[in-house]
Amino acid sequence: MKMDKKMYNKLFEEGRIGKVSIKNRLVMSPMGCGLANLDGTPSEDMLAFYEARAVGGAGIIIPEITRINDMHGAGLMRQLSVTKDRHIKPLAELAQVVHKHGSKIFIQLHHPGRETVSALLGGQPVVAPSPIPCKLVKQETRALTIDEIKQLITQFIEGAVRVQKAGCDGVELHAAHGYLLHQFLSPYTNKREDEYGGSFENRLRIIVEIIHGIRKECGTDFPIGVRLSVEEFLNKTGVTEEYIHIQDGVKIAMALEQAGIDFVDTSCGLYETGMTCIEPISFPQGWRHDLLLAVKSHVKIPVIGVSVIREPAVAEKFLEEGVVDFIAMGRSWNADEEWGKKVLEGREKELRKCISCLRCFESLNEYNAAGLPPECALNPRYAREVKYGDLVHDTKGHTAIVVGGGPAGMCAAQTLALRGVKVTLLDRQRELGGTVNLAKKPPLKERMQWIADYYNNELKRLGVEVKLNTEATPDMIMEYKPDAVILATGSTSIIPGKIPGITGSNVFTVEAVLSGESALKGKKVAVIGAGLTGLETAEYLCEGGNQVTIIDMLDKPAPNANHTNVADVCGRLAKDRVDYLFEHSLKEIKADRIILERLKDHQEVKVSADAIVLSLGFSPNQSLLSDLEAKGVEVKVIGSAIKDGAIAPAVRTGYEAGRELFLETQKTPSFRISKDEISNFGKTSLMDNQEGLYLSYLTYPEAIARILPPPLKPFSMPVVTLSICHVNNPTFADDYYEAILGVYATYGKSLGLYTMGLVLGGPGAEMAVQCGRDNGSIPKKLGGEFVIRRNGDTVTAGVTRRGTQLVEATMKIGEYNNPLTAALYQYPAAGKQTFGGGFYFHFDRIPDKNGESHFQNGALLMNQCEYNYQSWEPGIVSLHMKSSVDDPWAELPVNTIIGGAYSKNSLLVHKLNLVENVEADDVIPYLLTGRYDRTAFMETGRI
Ligand SMILES: Cc1cc2nc3c(=O)[nH]c(=O)nc-3n(C[C@H](O)[C@H](O)[C@H](O)COP(=O)(O)O)c2cc1C
Ligand code: SF4
Repeated sequence: MKMDKKMYNKLFEEGRIGKVSIKNRLVMSPMGCGLANLDGTPSEDMLAFYEARAVGGAGIIIPEITRINDMHGAGLMRQLSVTKDRHIKPLAELAQVVHKHGSKIFIQLHHPGRETVSALLGGQPVVAPSPIPCKLVKQETRALTIDEIKQLITQFIEGAVRVQKAGCDGVELHAAHGYLLHQFLSPYTNKREDEYGGSFENRLRIIVEIIHGIRKECGTDFPIGVRLSVEEFLNKTGVTEEYIHIQDGVKIAMALEQAGIDFVDTSCGLYETGMTCIEPISFPQGWRHDLLLAVKSHVKIPVIGVSVIREPAVAEKFLEEGVVDFIAMGRSWNADEEWGKKVLEGREKELRKCISCLRCFESLNEYNAAGLPPECALNPRYAREVKYGDLVHDTKGHTAIVVGGGPAGMCAAQTLALRGVKVTLLDRQRELGGTVNLAKKPPLKERMQWIADYYNNELKRLGVEVKLNTEATPDMIMEYKPDAVILATGSTSIIPGKIPGITGSNVFTVEAVLSGESALKGKKVAVIGAGLTGLETAEYLCEGGNQVTIIDMLDKPAPNANHTNVADVCGRLAKDRVDYLFEHSLKEIKADRIILERLKDHQEVKVSADAIVLSLGFSPNQSLLSDLEAKGVEVKVIGSAIKDGAIAPAVRTGYEAGRELFLETQKTPSFRISKDEISNFGKTSLMDNQEGLYLSYLTYPEAIARILPPPLKPFSMPVVTLSICHVNNPTFADDYYEAILGVYATYGKSLGLYTMGLVLGGPGAEMAVQCGRDNGSIPKKLGGEFVIRRNGDTVTAGVTRRGTQLVEATMKIGEYNNPLTAALYQYPAAGKQTFGGGFYFHFDRIPDKNGESHFQNGALLMNQCEYNYQSWEPGIVSLHMKSSVDDPWAELPVNTIIGGAYSKNSLLVHKLNLVENVEADDVIPYLLTGRYDRTAFMETGRI
């Protein structure tokens, strides 16, 4: 589909903050990603994480909370830091990877105040304007002294100076979400009686002094913004004291505008009302509309704002209505690093939209202290961009059956299809989605459907054959003759066997309830199990007019689930007047009641109930496994068929299975290679993800005739091709650069490219020569120095070897020099595949008794190449070629240029075929002349 930019004009309109221009209106809201090094510098993982989002179209990236004070300012274990000058250079690297893709980067300067834990501060109490502990983290809290406040002001300013020195585009002061600067602003947390507390002006003093200080040090061109919580929502927690209401939030924003800030990033809430800072699924898209508009209508500086935005239409409408100037999204960028790019390219259906499940935030808190990255329920690659790298194309035409169309199965099928595996997915249900189809049923969870919608589109797009209403059996699976089977058969409800009455017609599973099968309406229902599933099922039942009692052996609801999600559901259940019986176990089920045991005194308790719903967990379903293994097919089990769990591990195991199946490289590192691997060595060579210039020109027929060895014949047109590219991910070496000069030649009716010269450079060059491509006889030379530079629509490329610039090329992207080029390259385009062949010779060089070498066993070989294009941009080329003694590239002079293109593609070289045996003596003279380094033949005086 072609770009559909028109629909979202505003989103992709250029914007401006202070003097910084921004390519669009998309901001990646700051989010801890747990990928900083422990020393506060960005790790390689973090660079890749943000680079992926810059590539994915974010106009501004605001990375996570960044530390300005090492004594009491830690907010995360692995956290970016600007407390030292040594942080400047590594931060500059982060700025560079973001800038490389035309995005801007603002750093969020942060101090947690009372919203951190003393374990992160070496056991010291946490600090705050006043000694009032946060009710959520409940840490011993002391008030900052005046001296400490002055020191903090200096540290914020020094941090900003380092950010500027690192080449970042601006700073954002974090005065939202209940952190230190917010604590000063709010009368709820600031009860100081000195110049930093009391009146409105005094509460603003610290941040105003910081702003003035930064402005003085960094100048007027350096944007300073503030992230503000403009409403604290504390009435929701029963607070009756004074706190920040929206009218106060607006007043603060206006005062800060007066103090000279360049933008306001509008948010809301604090830890004690955390549900409003990072919302659970029940909060609709755009719910902060009025808060944002209130700010926007009172200030002139640009307003940035988040509002659970997941879909471009909502974002566009906000801009159209003037609710904000920049759309900030947090989790949308976690769930889909390419959010902006997909929308820009009209691929909206391909968006993997965040479902606000909170797993990223929960896992950040869970894993950060252990140094591990967080996870996203939907995006398996989130925070693991380096670990997973690029998918490896399957080169052997494998086929796979995936059984089960839940999140794990759908993700596995998608991943395999992306690699080129032919996939059939079987599912017994009438629609894709598996457990998602149940999970979406409780109130306010309809966005779960997005998961199924996404995969429905993906599987269709990628050509996966989906067979619904199909109960898979081992025999039926084997009829497909699959190379492997992936079992994503999910799990089934646990039904305890020994409880009297458990098989009665009044007993239902969660599946039976949520699928609508049980059709319970207006009944008295007992839900056994107060995990999150039990709670959500209870809410669903309440919606159906049932009166619900929730029973559990534990002493509180869902202690292991995300507390925000639990609080969210329980808040609504309270309104539904649900009863709870904690610390009770189920003993017996009768037709109209249940018998429980009260655990503390073993007393029997009777509860009248028309229906009993069991929510006691699920056990993995692996029923097909042993039969399939007995049939000798490779089987992998994924998702909750391994272990019942949430969506995140299901999707991840699906991704990993899809990514690793049929890979031959899953070996432990070793210097020894097994015998049976030798024959496979170099059989296929994938030059994955190469990028550069592909040029062609006409030379003179006699130039080709002079250098073409028999039995090859010149093609009717004297076409020369020249490619200069960076091979980013070859299967056989580190990345390297190559320049290939070739002519079109024929053998009988076969047309192919005959390579005259191949110059390599870069980290993987030597390995590419040794192992790359099964074409050992192509004359290859190392030590090439390459420049490929793209600046807007102009690309320049140069290849120099041993002091001679062999190639100097410039291309202006737009159209070809000549329309012939399109046909010559078989009309390439993004998403297209083309094929071609190449001729090579091979000889053995065998010494005789006297040690004299003889070339023998000559052969003409031909390979088959497959190009898969990610992009192909035609252009007008100008080209200069030069020869040196070792590299006679100008032996094929440029007569007239056909044209060229700048392309990103993957080149797969299939194994060579023997075309004909040839007499070595007939061919060798053509090959040696000027093809090999004379230095290799010990020509003296040259090194
Ligand atoms: C994992 C995670 C980490 C976050 N870390 C920060 C942070 O470092 N600084 C900040 O201002 N907000 C942080 N937030 C809040 C987000 O910036 C954003 O305001 C919030 O997620 C709501 O927007 P969304 O629905 O678009 O995600 C974080 C949110 C998440 C999910
Ligand atoms: S983990 Fe859940 S909330 Fe976080 S980005 Fe992924 S889908 Fe959204």
